[in-house]
Amino acid sequence: MADSITITDNRSGESVEIPIVEGGVSADAWRKLLPGVWFSDPSFMTTALASSAITYLDGDAGVLRYRGYPIEQLAEHSSYIEVAYLLIHGELPTKDQYETWVHDVTYHTFIHENMRKRFLEGFHYDAHPMGMLVSAVAALSTFYPESKDVADPEIRSKQITRLIAKMPTLAAACHRFSVGMPFVYPDNGLWFTENFLSMMWKVAEPRYEADPVLARALDLLFILHADHEQNCGTLALRTVASAHADPYSACAAACAALYGPRHGGANEAVIRMLTEIGSVANVPDFVRDVKERKGRLEGFGHRVYKNYDPRARIIKEAADKVFEITGKNPLLDIALKLEETALSDDYFISRKLYPNVDFYSGLIYQAMGFPIEMFTVLFAIPRTAGWLAHYQELLSQDQRIYRPRQLWIGAEERPYAPMDARS
Ligand code: CMC
Repeated sequence: MADSITITDNRSGESVEIPIVEGGVSADAWRKLLPGVWFSDPSFMTTALASSAITYLDGDAGVLRYRGYPIEQLAEHSSYIEVAYLLIHGELPTKDQYETWVHDVTYHTFIHENMRKRFLEGFHYDAHPMGMLVSAVAALSTFYPESKDVADPEIRSKQITRLIAKMPTLAAACHRFSVGMPFVYPDNGLWFTENFLSMMWKVAEPRYEADPVLARALDLLFILHADHEQNCGTLALRTVASAHADPYSACAAACAALYGPRHGGANEAVIRMLTEIGSVANVPDFVRDVKERKGRLEGFGHRVYKNYDPRARIIKEAADKVFEITGKNPLLDIALKLEETALSDDYFISRKLYPNVDFYSGLIYQAMGFPIEMFTVLFAIPRTAGWLAHYQELLSQDQRIYRPRQLWIGAEERPYAPMDARS
């Protein structure tokens, strides 16, 4: 076979030839030849988790496509709601499909009153909105017990619509609670992002009118964050989904992973870093400290991208339009200087470290008035579409439960010691 590898077990002299299919080799053949010998790949450096048709990513070339469509074209022509449909269903919607989808998503935006009154209001007054969101998403499964019937495609589809529709409502509710403002009900006459902005910012006016440039900028950011192949959050989702948990529980696991500063929490970390740097003059010292491993350059580097993250490029361009409305974020100059310094420094060049999606997104969110605690929440809203697409795909592939093995590094068997015999 031309596209194959041969492995030989030198203990027995036995060999097996394994075909390389779509760039991967199946674990089944290894398993037959080498029972009891496990791959040690704890961070999945060489493991393809799934066969997937959702998002294509070429990290060396800086290419990102959803269902075959380049991210640049979707960013220019599409909307988050259309992209969500594309991710879930695999095709762009026809006019009728689109109208039905928009209608369904719009009319599932309300959350049960007890979700707000009894659940969200039970949090401590200064709860981090992302911590609240993780729990709130999981709690939704208790309001929709039928969601446990994961084998029924109609029931599954209903939960998908519900969750995509309710994420902005939950996100805004978490924010309003954490700043002591009253909850704002969805206004279903508004477009998806306008409605979210209304739930975020409305005070006493009869109807909140979002600035159309800002509503579109948010829509663009939602498109760019909607999916990203087999990342940490998606792995968490897939793990839980492989046990056939309901989609709310699976998405809550993904949200929890996203919360981490190495993942979706990085946009928050970027703003904290830029604020700490304080001025353009301090950039060289900061970069020196990073090279001496006294810190990380947040918003830089990626496991897969060894080139400029295409999403970061689009966000950087979009930032100017936002700043025309909001005024320039004073941290922008520090960010630009940081990028310029890092991209001309051998430490970053040799490791192929470029700005990722989180480097500039926080600057826009901050200029739009979002508190930094909300940044990861803003990431989670659109990523829900991607997570649910992976949820659907995994179930449609009849995936076995995830159950990796381990390399044992612990103690040999030893007898239980009574307390007075322990040193
Ligand atoms: N600043 C300084 N050095 C870095 C950075 C960074 N941001 N990222 C990687 N490196 C160095 C790292 O120390 C290592 O050097 P060496 O080989 O000398 O030990 C080398 O580059 C390879 O890095 P790695 O840590 O092995 O890479 P990884 O694939 O395990 O980690 C990452 C990827 C994204 C966690 C990491 O680049 C990082 O921590 N970046 C900052 C946090 C961040 O921006 N995260 C958002 C990622 S994109 C959005 C998302 O996924 O949610």
